[in-house]
Amino acid sequence: MTDPKIETTPTTKTSIGLKGIARLSEFEFKDKNVFVRVDFNVPLSHEVVGNKTITKITNDKRIRAALPTIQYILEKGGRIVLASHLGRPEKAEERHLYKMEPVAAHVGELLGVEVILIEDPASDAPKALLKTLRPKQILMLENVRYDEGEVANSTELAMHWSSYTDIYINDAFGACHRAHSSIEALPKLVAKKGIGFLIEKEISNLDAVIFHPAHPYVAILGGAKVSDKIPVIEKLMDLVDTFIVGGAMAYTFLAAKGVNVGKSRVEKDKVAFTREMLARLEARNKKILLPIDHLVVSELAAKTASVSAYEAIAGDMLGVDIGPKSIDLFSAELKKAKCVFWNGPMGIFERSEFSKGTFAIAKTLASLTDAQTIVGGGDSASAAEASGFAEQMTHISTGGGASLEYLQGEKLPGLEILRARRY
Ligand code: 3PG
Repeated sequence: MTDPKIETTPTTKTSIGLKGIARLSEFEFKDKNVFVRVDFNVPLSHEVVGNKTITKITNDKRIRAALPTIQYILEKGGRIVLASHLGRPEKAEERHLYKMEPVAAHVGELLGVEVILIEDPASDAPKALLKTLRPKQILMLENVRYDEGEVANSTELAMHWSSYTDIYINDAFGACHRAHSSIEALPKLVAKKGIGFLIEKEISNLDAVIFHPAHPYVAILGGAKVSDKIPVIEKLMDLVDTFIVGGAMAYTFLAAKGVNVGKSRVEKDKVAFTREMLARLEARNKKILLPIDHLVVSELAAKTASVSAYEAIAGDMLGVDIGPKSIDLFSAELKKAKCVFWNGPMGIFERSEFSKGTFAIAKTLASLTDAQTIVGGGDSASAAEASGFAEQMTHISTGGGASLEYLQGEKLPGLEILRARRY
């Protein structure tokens, strides 16, 4: 093993992060029409009462995260048109489940403003309404994915939006990896364009773990599939000191080491690749910690679970969470860390009886007052929130796919289109 380094060690690569992209402070918003693309793709619950479907927002984190940008533009005298997608309303019979109405009402309440919902995202109505908009009013377009031009990255739809847009601001970090019309085609047509506070915060936190992480640097990877995490492991291989692997993907790692994992989920076609990956990590003197015990059940529907004594799992059982010895092992390693990137739960945390391992990891991260703790979006963000320790993390990304793609070194269309020139 290499000696743990405490100081920050910059990698040879430098971040182009937000190079050439304008920030909010660079614009004069007074009396300007500002098209603000946000990611209000929030989780919803639907309840049918009589012949009506009542839709409720079950987690408003993404909405709250974009409020500072909206507030700032309003304070500076800008006239806002908010635009977002919500879900994937592909089937006509499901479209009504993805209406922006509950989101508009919630934004109105949170900001104390009137949100006027425009029923058709491609409607001409904003042109006239913007002329008479009062200071405590904002416009919100209906779900941009109601127009098929959005996903098709249509220039025609973008031209329509650009006809009433003076300044384009993207604060939809979670959708920046999508080359869609409101993310890419529209800013191509608008001269004055930039990002909001949320994207600025997301990129600076992700850049911190890519380009100037403090050491010891630990990456915790979990979730269902090794195949989803291969590019991240490749990217982090030279950066981190220790990999901690939990969740179902750990069973594929254990199988690659020849450990019997019973009926646990193993990606058979990835075992050989995982074995090779382990060898490459060892060759680089990286520490890799796998579970040394597990919470196991005979089948997912089983009412009772037990703890396996060792890393091996009996043939008729399957793993659903890491066990207590693994929690201690992982926590002891994490307590030495100065930088932690967490992506993927340790077990099926959505079921309270299998959530102990994931929540214990969240608790340990919360106790690290002297370390950067960055949580990737998606499942890991939900797990951190469900654990009750979300507030104590340095940063929890609002983007699942977007944060992983950025971390893997992919160029995000939503950011690239905003650069003054190519880098
Ligand atoms: C997300 O939830 O990750 C973003 O809002 C993007 O949504 P999408 O995967 O439906 O494009």
